[in-house]
Amino acid sequence: MANQNRRVLLKRRPTGAPTTADFEIAEAPLPDPAAGEVLVRGIYLSLDPYMRGRISGARSYAKPVDIGAVMEGRVVGEVVHSRDPGVRDGDYVVGGYGWQLYSAVPAKGLVKLDPAEAPLSTALGVLGMPGLTAYVGLSEIGRPQMGETVVVSAASGAVGAVAGQLAKRAGARVVGIAGGADKCRYVETELGFDSCLDHRSADLGAALDPACPNGIDVYFENVGGAVQQAVFSRLNDFGRMVMCGMVAEYNDVEPRPGPNLMAVVRKRLKIQGFIVGDQWQRWGEYRAMAAPLVRDGTLKYREDIVDGLDNAPAAFIGLLQGRNFGKLLVRLSSDPTRRG
Ligand SMILES: NC(=O)c1ccc[n+]([C@@H]2O[C@H](COP(=O)([O-])OP(=O)(O)OC[C@H]3O[C@@H](n4cnc5c(N)ncnc54)[C@H](OP(=O)(O)O)[C@@H]3O)[C@@H](O)[C@H]2O)c1
Repeated sequence: MANQNRRVLLKRRPTGAPTTADFEIAEAPLPDPAAGEVLVRGIYLSLDPYMRGRISGARSYAKPVDIGAVMEGRVVGEVVHSRDPGVRDGDYVVGGYGWQLYSAVPAKGLVKLDPAEAPLSTALGVLGMPGLTAYVGLSEIGRPQMGETVVVSAASGAVGAVAGQLAKRAGARVVGIAGGADKCRYVETELGFDSCLDHRSADLGAALDPACPNGIDVYFENVGGAVQQAVFSRLNDFGRMVMCGMVAEYNDVEPRPGPNLMAVVRKRLKIQGFIVGDQWQRWGEYRAMAAPLVRDGTLKYREDIVDGLDNAPAAFIGLLQGRNFGKLLVRLSSDPTRRG
C-alpha cells in the first residue's frame, strides 16, 4: 500500500470548455479509517458527463463541487484496511469515493460487489448508473412498442448502447446516431442496431429519412444541439422524447434556443426529463435483469479505459468532445480480478 494519497481537486470553475488548468493534482496523507470505517483503494474511477454540471456554478439538481474539494465520482475499489467487523479486507465495493486513490468511508451502507457476478468495472457502466439510466428512461418514458422506431444518440456510449439494445429487445427498429465511422460500425455490427448514422456527416436530417421510413416514435436524447433539431421535426404523432441529457451543450456559456413547441401540441408529443439518482431503488431490479445478459454476452458493452489518476482531467475534457469510445473509466490501480 502507498503511504500517500493522491487526489484531483477542482481549482476553479471553467467558463466554456474545461481545461486541465481547472484541476489540480495534489498529494495528501493516506486517510486513516476510524472505528466503523474502511480504507478503500480505488481500482476504477467513472468519468461521466454530469460532472460538467458539478464544476459549474449554475443552479442544478445537485450541489456543485466546492473549489479546492476533491472531484466527485463513483469508484470501484478494494477494502485494504477494515475497521468494521462486517467488512473484510479484500472485499470489493462501489460508491461515490471521488477522484482519488484512497478514501476512508463508513462501513455502514457500503455496496459490495461480487466479481463472480460480472467484471468489477461493469458496476460503473453497463450494470451501474449508466445502464440503470437507460433502463429507467426507456421503461418509464420511452416505452417502445413492437415495430416502433427508436432513435438513440451517443449510441456507442455507456447509456446509449444499453438504451438501444433494450429497445431492440422490446421489438423496436433501432437507429443509432454516433460520431464517426468506427463508432457507427460498432453500433451496427456489435450492438446490433438496425442502422447507425454519423452526426458529423454533411446532412443528418437527410440521412434520417431513409433510415426511419416510418418516422420516429421514440427519441432517447443524449446530446442535444443539431442532432436534437434533426430528430425533433421527424417525430411521429404520439412520439416520446426521453430527455436523458444534452452533452453537446454542457460547455455552452449561453443556453441555445430550443425547438418551437407547437409541434408538441399538434403531434401530442410527450417530452419528459428524468434524473437516475431519483431511481436508485430500481438498481437491484435492473442488475437482476441485466447481469445474466452481460454474463451470457447478449447485452454487449465496451469500455474505454485510461490509465492513471493524473490523466483523469484530460480524459474528462475529451468525453465532452466525443473522444471516448465506450464507457469512460480511469484505472486507478490494477484490478486483481482481471487477467492481462
Ligand atoms: N438523466 C440522467 O440521470 C443521466 C444519467 C447518466 C447519463 N446521462 C446523460 O446521458 C448522456 C450520455 O452519457 P454517457 O455517460 O453514456 O456518455 P457517453 O455516451 O459514454 O459519452 C459521451 C458521448 O457524447 C457524445 N458527445 C460528446 N460531446 C459531443 C458533442 N459536442 N456533440 C455531439 N456529441 C457529443 C459523444 O458520442 P458521439 O461521438 O457518438 O457523438 C461522446 O462519446 C449524457 O448526456 C449524460 O449527461 C443522464
